[in-house]
Amino acid sequence: MTVGMGPLSRQAGKPSTGSLATLDLRGRVPQNDLMDDELAAAYGLYGREDALGVLSDVVDDGGSAVVIGEPGLGKSSLLKVVDQLAQRRGRRVLSVGPTQFDRGLPFAGLAELVSQCPDSAFDRLPVPQRRALSVALQRADPDGDDVDALAVPLAVRGLLTQLYGAEPVTLILDDAQWLDQASLASLAFALRTIDPRRLSVVLASRPDPGAAAELIRVLAEPRHELELKPLPDWRSASCCASGWACGGPRR
Ligand SMILES: Nc1ncnc2c1ncn2[C@@H]1O[C@H](COP(=O)(O)OP(=O)(O)OP(=O)(O)O)[C@@H](O)[C@H]1O
Ligand SMILES: [Mg+2]
Repeated sequence: MTVGMGPLSRQAGKPSTGSLATLDLRGRVPQNDLMDDELAAAYGLYGREDALGVLSDVVDDGGSAVVIGEPGLGKSSLLKVVDQLAQRRGRRVLSVGPTQFDRGLPFAGLAELVSQCPDSAFDRLPVPQRRALSVALQRADPDGDDVDALAVPLAVRGLLTQLYGAEPVTLILDDAQWLDQASLASLAFALRTIDPRRLSVVLASRPDPGAAAELIRVLAEPRHELELKPLPDWRSASCCASGWACGGPRR
């Protein structure tokens, strides 16, 4: 499903949420929506209710979402709120956010991911996988033997499977256009066969047809594609909220 996320668009397939009273009457559980709104406000996120609604459902129900938007449109801001709401709903959150410098560093993205996994999960991996991942992440010296190319992707899948076997997991991948190729390939392998009800994936990227394409392709259904459009009025709204009328202080 592809949904345009401009200021006037609504979430496809869902009733208009023009007022909270409407929500109550339609019998949807308003508690989560209220909480999402409050959370968004607490994190200074303006607008984006549609996108947050979709991402909130992905956290609750599983599947995946791909958020595409030009620089500065609020992808990371949105994902920060998703991170918080997932934690509040008892999900283990794994969050990866590479910089442009990481793109050329093999396994930089995986290093960030694995650093958030408990040692006990790492220790339970089969020895060849643990060894291969340790070498890939520069935690161990290579022992001279050839490393099976599948060992690292299998290790990543093993780690994720263990984690979501114990509790639901939300994996947040920000700035996917900067994920290094080795991490992309391992994640694409690992995510191809996960249980989407236990591990939901929220990925954000700048528009770039090639970036992370192999990863995006394997993300589980239902896979929502959200294209963020500019919110023309958020700058003025945020400056008014901070006590400044646009163009000067409020009298
Ligand atoms: N909806 C919003 N409400 C409040 N602030 C916003 C919103 N969207 C963007 N901003 C502000 O704009 C700035 C850029 O937002 P953000 O970093 O989330 O954009 P981005 O899409 O992740 O950009 P990039 O592609 O460069 O990573 C931040 O200071 C953020 O606080
Ligand atoms: Mg960002």
